[in-house]
Amino acid sequence: MAESAAEDLIRAPDSAAIKDAADILRAGGLVAMPTETVYGLAADAANDRAVAGIFAAKGRPRFNPLICHVAGVEAAEKLVHIPAPARALIAAFWPGPLTLVLEKRADCPVSELASAGLSTLAIRQPAHPVAQALLREIDRPLAAPSANRSGRISPTSAAHVRDDLEGAVGMILDGGPCPVGIESSIIAITGDRLFLLRPGSVTAGDIAAKTGLMVDAPDGDGAIVAPGQLQSHYAPKAGMRLDAREARAGEILIGFGPIFDDPSFNLSPSGDLVAAAARLFALLRKADALGPKTIAVAPVPEHGLGLAINDRLRRAAAPRTV
Ligand code: TXA
Ligand code: MG
Repeated sequence: MAESAAEDLIRAPDSAAIKDAADILRAGGLVAMPTETVYGLAADAANDRAVAGIFAAKGRPRFNPLICHVAGVEAAEKLVHIPAPARALIAAFWPGPLTLVLEKRADCPVSELASAGLSTLAIRQPAHPVAQALLREIDRPLAAPSANRSGRISPTSAAHVRDDLEGAVGMILDGGPCPVGIESSIIAITGDRLFLLRPGSVTAGDIAAKTGLMVDAPDGDGAIVAPGQLQSHYAPKAGMRLDAREARAGEILIGFGPIFDDPSFNLSPSGDLVAAAARLFALLRKADALGPKTIAVAPVPEHGLGLAINDRLRRAAAPRTV
């Protein structure tokens, strides 16, 4: 029996699928790959047309640069300069959900479009075995933003990717739900200072504990920012109300800990932030699909991974710019 188009699009990540995915990428096409954080929409980072295809598929503004995914530190060394603090971070956290913004080498082969003309490049080695297998197979850096339409909720399953990008992506490698669930922490390094551009599951506390390095929040004039940290982001179709203690008329309440309406809409009944991060985007999508006027969300504590969860919730609730 012929498989349906949707089944062809979403593939179990066996070695045949990984090889086919690498062929699509070598030919300049797009492949969605699971990472430990969220699904990424990957293209050959050195191929201008392929990278342009990412911006087109996502409807992403061209000023917003992409993260390059590499198989390891050796591959990274061909793209960027790696000063001592970056080396310490790589030793402590790669492979894993930590992106570093570093100065590009003069001979960096990555498309100018991927770095949006900046002198820096954002780079990480993902920990997910499927992303790693694909990077090993293709043996070149992959530019990969989150595999959602620009401004919308990031995808943590193959079905989320299909819902946003069917018709625009050549293959979706299905690695199941993403274990971390929110995007990587982004650290920019200038001189010997570290700036947190986007909070994620690797926190400033983790960095201090493992490397002794102190992280600054971006501050003041001329501070480096991630161009993609637009205020409105992760936006569901519904409105958002944060710090909610109950559902009002027309609302669905996404609970946390003891504050909830419906147990199937609770980020974590036991108040576990790791579990809450892993479910955040899936629950936002599930609530939005029911078409409520407003999605209300219970308070999440402002520490550890809660900082990254609240960052995403505030952007989801921000006045819409897209
Ligand atoms: O976990 C993740 O990081 C996921 C997975 C797929 O790896 N990727 C991801 O990519 O979240 P994206 O494109 O959705 O977010 C990348 C962020 C954007 O806010 C962008 O502005 C910032 O990284 N960025 C990229 N290059 C940069 C640079 N050279 N300087 C400052 N910020 C940069
Ligand atoms: Mg994104």
